[in-house]
Amino acid sequence: MAVKDAVRERGQFSSRFGFITAATGSAVGLGNIWGFPTQTASHGGGAFVLVYLVLAFLLAYPALMAELIIGRHTRSNMVSALPQLTTSPMLKIVGRATGLFGVVTASLILSFYAIVASWLMVQVPAALADIGGQGPAENWLNQPSLLRDSLFCGLFSLLTAGIVARGVTAGIERWSTRLMPALVLLILGLVGTVLTLPGAMEGLRLYLIPNFNLLTGPSLLTSAMGQAFFSLSLGVGTMLVYGSYVSKADNLPLTGAYVALIDTGIAFLAGLLIIPAMFVAQQRGIEIYNSDNTLIAGPDLILQTLPSLFNSLGFAGAFIGLIFFLLLTIAALTSSISMLEVPVTFVLEKFKISRYHATWLVASIIFSLSLLILNNFDQLFTGVIRLTTTYSQPLLGVMLCVFAGWVLHRNKLLSEISKGFAGAKTSLFWKIWPSYIRFICPLLIILMFVQNTRS
Ligand code: TRP
Repeated sequence: MAVKDAVRERGQFSSRFGFITAATGSAVGLGNIWGFPTQTASHGGGAFVLVYLVLAFLLAYPALMAELIIGRHTRSNMVSALPQLTTSPMLKIVGRATGLFGVVTASLILSFYAIVASWLMVQVPAALADIGGQGPAENWLNQPSLLRDSLFCGLFSLLTAGIVARGVTAGIERWSTRLMPALVLLILGLVGTVLTLPGAMEGLRLYLIPNFNLLTGPSLLTSAMGQAFFSLSLGVGTMLVYGSYVSKADNLPLTGAYVALIDTGIAFLAGLLIIPAMFVAQQRGIEIYNSDNTLIAGPDLILQTLPSLFNSLGFAGAFIGLIFFLLLTIAALTSSISMLEVPVTFVLEKFKISRYHATWLVASIIFSLSLLILNNFDQLFTGVIRLTTTYSQPLLGVMLCVFAGWVLHRNKLLSEISKGFAGAKTSLFWKIWPSYIRFICPLLIILMFVQNTRS
């Protein structure tokens, strides 16, 4: 009875499927559909894909498991989870500080992610205005302005908060299970359409055939690692908090593997869409290279090159554009709810206020941060992204590995993994993972960090 009450109070995903859709919903986002294909394009196509796949499973998956295990073991938010793993007062302080750092980082990531998401979301009504022949409205929606961006960022934040305020099952899980299948269908439909257009095969070749000459240079490795980390939502406690809602009857290593596999699969699919689409655009006379001969990759790709392609395809293009931006909006939304959940769980458990109040309070603060960034765009935007993704995320990643590998007692670790996984003790996972998370993961992350901050 006591266990049931505790579950009811904190919330728990209703099934393994529910958790997998929510966690893949978090993982699959702009990082997959935008980041992965463009990183691939600028790092030698198929060669990057190979390196990424190896790193996703050798580095990101073990780190994901660290978060899920700590989360389910402590059934707690990011700030009170780590201190629970130790009896040492000193380590408790370090754990709490790490947790707070995670909560702040998650909030900052959301503050810029919501801005990027709103640029994509606004394209949905713009495409509708185009289809409906509403020229002036379409022009206004297509023209970046502080008013437009603030309004749509507000709308996106409202949607995010609206889902999180409903709670784990009625909000996060329900909306993830509605939106994720839609996302998979939309992306499959788009890949199928784009691959039939002239020029697509050239893109496909670049994407799939590795050019090992481009494999040299440390930047490829660090880019692939950073990409894998961002894509699996690691470091800031997102997966820790989602892990805290997983049933003790679930096989955690297997469930985590599904999440990593689906996340990587969808990133791969997105590459099958974006890279060929660029070469279709080139066939139609649209510039796809920068002046230094690298493929266009940043916001220009998504907000100019691809829309020009859709325009050049006439009426059908407007529909393709509509579906493309709907896809991006859905991907961003299921990710943003997982970011918001990190500070919300902390605030509601720490201050013992209702989820409803905690959500709207935290969402308002983060939206104010987004507005601050929008109003001081040149000074803040790239700075906040760099601070959070290049510095905070890897540092936090190391701390989480250290807490899972060195602080959490080995017997407790094994007993947590054994829940829902009877053969854990003799499994390959248990033979490899503990030393991995102690030595290899922190070392690799530190290497990536040093490399990234020097460049
Ligand atoms: N993984 C998501 C993407 O690929 C973004 C994301 C969600 C995230 N939660 C996160 C990134 C926490 C870093 C930390 O777009």
